[in-house]
Amino acid sequence: MRPVSTHAETAQGGLRSEPAGLPRHVAIIMDGNGRWAQARGFARVRGHEHGVESVRAITRHAARLGLEQLTLFAFSTENWRRPETEVDRLMELLTHYLVEERDELMENDIRLTAIGRIEELPEDVQRTLAETEALTADNSGMTLCLALNYGARGELADAARTLALDAAAGRIDVAAMSSEEIERELDARTYQPDMPPLDLLVRTAGEQRLSNFLLWQMSYGEFHVADVTWPEFREAALEAALADYGSRKRSFGGLLSS
Ligand code: FPP
Repeated sequence: MRPVSTHAETAQGGLRSEPAGLPRHVAIIMDGNGRWAQARGFARVRGHEHGVESVRAITRHAARLGLEQLTLFAFSTENWRRPETEVDRLMELLTHYLVEERDELMENDIRLTAIGRIEELPEDVQRTLAETEALTADNSGMTLCLALNYGARGELADAARTLALDAAAGRIDVAAMSSEEIERELDARTYQPDMPPLDLLVRTAGEQRLSNFLLWQMSYGEFHVADVTWPEFREAALEAALADYGSRKRSFGGLLSS
């Protein structure tokens, strides 16, 4: 039994040696907003403001290209350590985006969802998020998943806690526990039976770190580093990342047939 995505398998169960093609699920670490602003003599928050334009352009383009899911790292559990003015502006931009983007999401058949410790976000953000999630819940095109107050270690710790409580209450059989139970628990908020596995992680601004993002989900994901900052990352840069992914040959730890 293979514990990973099977969409690269042949009918005989071997792995195809063809290039990977279009990813189903892409995640992005949107880095370099501050650097973009500082290089132009602006306050850091101007970088986040311009970053929202990239969020808009990349989401629309990803949906039109046919991706099934786009997951964006918008705010990490570590980002609370930034100056209060920057955190406040990020929350404002997020709330504004969640309202302003409703027509665009509906027109492009995009379902909006979120991962992270949502219950710790300011109440107006939670309320606006819940409203936009509800409005777009029946859209059947691409899923746009915002990682908000998200940290992968915290996500794994939360899943472990829930599973331990379930085990203590006799709701799950500890001896039979497998990676599927953990995965289902990680996905509990966004879970859809056909949710695609993460194929590609893009990080902008030249950085080569995972920074506590999707640790579990990236087990077999491909990595693409873009040199441009997030406010500069637009349609052509996304297409370059997809072309890079498309040329990769994925073996999921097995051997590729020639
Ligand atoms: C990292 O750049 C970026 C962030 C911490 C926030 C990303 C947020 C947005 C793009 C806007 C709000 C999001 C949505 C979905 C509306 P950085 O500031 O760490 O850059 P630096 O490393 O150059 O300082």
